[in-house]
Amino acid sequence: MVQPIAIVLLAVAIAPVLAAGSSSVINATCAELKPLWPYDYCVGVLSGDPAATAATDLRGVAAAAVNITATKAASTLRVISDLVDELSTCRGYYGNMLQSLADVRVDLDAGRWAIQ
Ligand SMILES: *[C@@H]1O[C@H](CO)[C@@H](O)[C@H](O)[C@H]1NC(C)=O
Ligand SMILES: *[C@@H]1O[C@H](CO)[C@@H](O)[C@H](O)[C@H]1NC(C)=O
Repeated sequence: MVQPIAIVLLAVAIAPVLAAGSSSVINATCAELKPLWPYDYCVGVLSGDPAATAATDLRGVAAAAVNITATKAASTLRVISDLVDELSTCRGYYGNMLQSLADVRVDLDAGRWAIQ
């Protein structure tokens, strides 16, 4: 019976220290990443990431930052791929339109323009 209570007391005693520690590790990492990410944006993003807030050293926060960036890059790549698909469809429409207009021009030039 004593052991679980001791563990809970120990956890409560350690918790604020861990929270302050992870926040300062995030702050230190963001200070290092300043050339790549604006500081406030960096702190905001990393503070909302479970892996970053659980990290106890700069390397752990950096690993979380790499994952977050990879997720965002993958999402941007999907948007770009969708845009390329849509542009490809548009290219098809405009190609068909040019072909139709060329056909109409041939008919007009040949005097085939009477409305039936
Ligand atoms: C970390 O930075 C934030 C925002 O700049 C600040 O509010 C917080 O007090 C800092 N924490 C530590 C432990 O330095
Ligand atoms: C980063 O992503 C890899 C692969 O998805 C995963 O194994 C690893 O635990 C992640 N690390 C962090 C710190 O989020």
